[in-house]
Amino acid sequence: MTFRDLGQTLEAPEGQLLLDLCLDNGIEMEAACGGFAACNTCRVRVVSGELSPRDEVEDPFLDRPDQRLGCQAAVTGDVTLELDPGES
Ligand code: FES
Repeated sequence: MTFRDLGQTLEAPEGQLLLDLCLDNGIEMEAACGGFAACNTCRVRVVSGELSPRDEVEDPFLDRPDQRLGCQAAVTGDVTLELDPGES
């Protein structure tokens, strides 16, 4: 798991949620709703690679197909992200 905007790469166990991965490794990820898919403060941008399939509960909070909610998306393999979700 590479956070491109931080220049940081971590080993991430498959199935771990991005929010938990960040919290466990001291990477700041806002989670105003506590991880219940009720805000969009945990949005990230997927630069390359894949995460768990996008859940329909995320759709109202995402402006672009390359965005995901960190509290819903889980690690499935090598992926590069940016914590800045980008312009809508
Ligand atoms: S923490 Fe609120 S949607 Fe992810």
